[in-house]
Amino acid sequence: MTAASEEPDRAEVVIAPMRGRDLPGVLRIEQAVYVLPWTRRLFVEELSLRTSRVYRVAWSGRRIVGFAGQMLIDDESHVNNIAVDPTWQGRGLGTAILLDLERTGLVNGARHLTLEVRVGNEPALALYRRFGLAPVGVRRNYYPETGDDALVMWSRNIDSAEYADRLQEIDTMTSGRLTVTSRR
Ligand SMILES: CC(C)(COP(=O)(O)OP(=O)(O)OC[C@H]1O[C@@H](n2cnc3c(N)ncnc32)[C@H](O)[C@@H]1OP(=O)(O)O)[C@@H](O)C(=O)NCCC(=O)NCCS
Repeated sequence: MTAASEEPDRAEVVIAPMRGRDLPGVLRIEQAVYVLPWTRRLFVEELSLRTSRVYRVAWSGRRIVGFAGQMLIDDESHVNNIAVDPTWQGRGLGTAILLDLERTGLVNGARHLTLEVRVGNEPALALYRRFGLAPVGVRRNYYPETGDDALVMWSRNIDSAEYADRLQEIDTMTSGRLTVTSRR
């Protein structure tokens, strides 16, 4: 029996920098998962900010199946967006993409991680808790399309040895479900 036939459900994913030509695939997911999706123009503006933004795309073969982006300011990484194709959700891909994004942030000097998340977005909250993100405050009516509040979450000292152990545990857990290759 070959190794491949022993692991029939294990998908292979490549995570690479987002480029302008990836935007049709990115927008397909963005529009599928958000009530008020970012526009193409907004993604183009973000991608043009090369010194402060890092956007990554997950590929399954020639199909884009997820993406994420962060804003790097001083030693802080602010996760601006993360989304997974609905048909791929719940298979560990969101975890793999956030792991890749954090490692990219660490390489660029990030020491603290922050983001906003809609109150009640349970899949996202489960994902963020895994990475040690904890709520520190609420922004009222943060999402104008629904009037929902946002939780502000932080994970500090992501450059510590303790946090490296956490990332390694996440990596081990994820690699049991997906084969992930990160391209810089
Ligand atoms: C948030 C998101 C990126 C997670 O992607 P994913 O590929 O499903 O993530 P994973 O498979 O790695 O799962 C992460 C956690 O979410 C949980 N989860 C997945 N789908 C879930 C669901 N429908 N309900 C509750 N929890 C769910 C998983 O169980 C896992 O937590 P656990 O293993 O500790 O139980 C994805 O749900 C998504 O694209 N949502 C729409 C966009 C969005 O809300 N982005 C976040 C903006 S702040």
